[in-house]
Amino acid sequence: MIAIASDHGGYALKEILKEHLAAAGIPADDLGCAGEQVDYPDYAASLCRAVAAGKYDRGILICGTGIGISIAANKIHGIRAALCGDCYSAEMARQHNDANVLCLGGRVVGSELAKKIVDTFLTTGFSHGENHIRRIAKIAALED
Ligand code: RB5
Repeated sequence: MIAIASDHGGYALKEILKEHLAAAGIPADDLGCAGEQVDYPDYAASLCRAVAAGKYDRGILICGTGIGISIAANKIHGIRAALCGDCYSAEMARQHNDANVLCLGGRVVGSELAKKIVDTFLTTGFSHGENHIRRIAKIAALED
């Protein structure tokens, strides 16, 4: 199961991606917002806490640029959030970084590209390479 959330800057793309996921038969819980003006850290926190708790396998977060919501997401223990604007980055975020949250800029990426980035993120597995496991452990050790 995956979760998706956005602020107002990412709302339009969230609605498009929800339709895309539904058409692909991928269940996704929408954790807001409903299009109103909100603060993206609140939505990053609620989605990421649910992912970190194991309620969802992966999360998708969208704000205007994807920057603010990714900064906020990476504050949550256990979250590796990747802001991706291309499919190669989404693939590497999974293979090398075992990213569990994808961040997108709703005012930056076109909807068709965003769909392909989401598809890549959701279908690519972690490499389980020893070097990548070691580096991810070092990232975790950086947390205060
Ligand atoms: C909201 O206007 C905008 O600042 C937000 O969506 C995001 O782009 C912040 O990083």
